[in-house]
Amino acid sequence: MKGENNKRLIIGAGGQIGGDLVEYLRGKYGNENVVATDIKQLEIAGPTEQLDVMDLDALRGVIEKHNTTEVYLLAALLSASAELKPQVAWDLNMKGLFNVLNLAKEGLIKKVFWPSSIAVFGPSTPKESTPQNTIMDPNTVYGISKLAGERWCEYYHNKYGVDVRSIRYPGLISWKTKPGGGTTDYAIDIFYSALQNEIYTCFLKEDRALPMMYMDDAVRATVQLMEAPKENITVRSSYNLGGVSFKPTDIARAIRKRIKDFGICYQPDFRDEIAQSWPHSIDDQDSQKDWNWKNKYELEEIVEVMLHNLSEKLQLS
Ligand code: SER
Repeated sequence: MKGENNKRLIIGAGGQIGGDLVEYLRGKYGNENVVATDIKQLEIAGPTEQLDVMDLDALRGVIEKHNTTEVYLLAALLSASAELKPQVAWDLNMKGLFNVLNLAKEGLIKKVFWPSSIAVFGPSTPKESTPQNTIMDPNTVYGISKLAGERWCEYYHNKYGVDVRSIRYPGLISWKTKPGGGTTDYAIDIFYSALQNEIYTCFLKEDRALPMMYMDDAVRATVQLMEAPKENITVRSSYNLGGVSFKPTDIARAIRKRIKDFGICYQPDFRDEIAQSWPHSIDDQDSQKDWNWKNKYELEEIVEVMLHNLSEKLQLS
């Protein structure tokens, strides 16, 4: 198998993406070859470590202990949380990245994955089919940190030959682990309300379209990008990644097809302003061309699979 000798380190494994990614990578490469770390103690089988990515010595120690050569850095504060704690968000989002990039520059890490986001775009960015290269004027703390991070990734690649790869994730929809503090989280919360017979109060306006993606697609994209031959990777800042695009009214309608009396009301708050500055849909032709990206899940399938899996999960708990 390709990459068989590489052991992988996941930082932020307790988070929304981390949980699914660890499971996928362990299925592919074996439990012992994927070390899951988080700032909190993880309650999962297989190799785990408690790790604060801001602590460079601790990070180095974990990498040396487990001989991991690939790092997936997923620890970050999301957009809504970052607006409430700007300095904490900047420090975590940037210092974590610098620690990993610097160990890669030293040669301790061979390959890095770092997630960027649609939040790198801003009010002046074209909203429909947002291109890879365009105006970027993020006006949120999170977006500013992600855009700065993208520039640093490209810089470390160009100056020091660091093999760092990145994706601008759309809003990610998952059922295994709940996100926290994101603007796109409404598209997950809504399912919990629908299944618990509650009226969902949406914090975005009803017609606020955003780019979204089901988690299985996002995990597949991540691993596909990481496995692509180096020479195919032409974007060293971060790749646009397109999934689906929908408004709160669209997802509510799709849920109502399956849960007839589902009710929703709208009370937009500061998160709607964040969402207003982001694209509606994404042009990802570079991802298609460079590493054969194609999303699988459309809105109806996402709603189907979310309702199915979440209802089982909620009955178990
Ligand atoms: N899903 C993220 C958020 O809402 C965007 O990357 O903050």
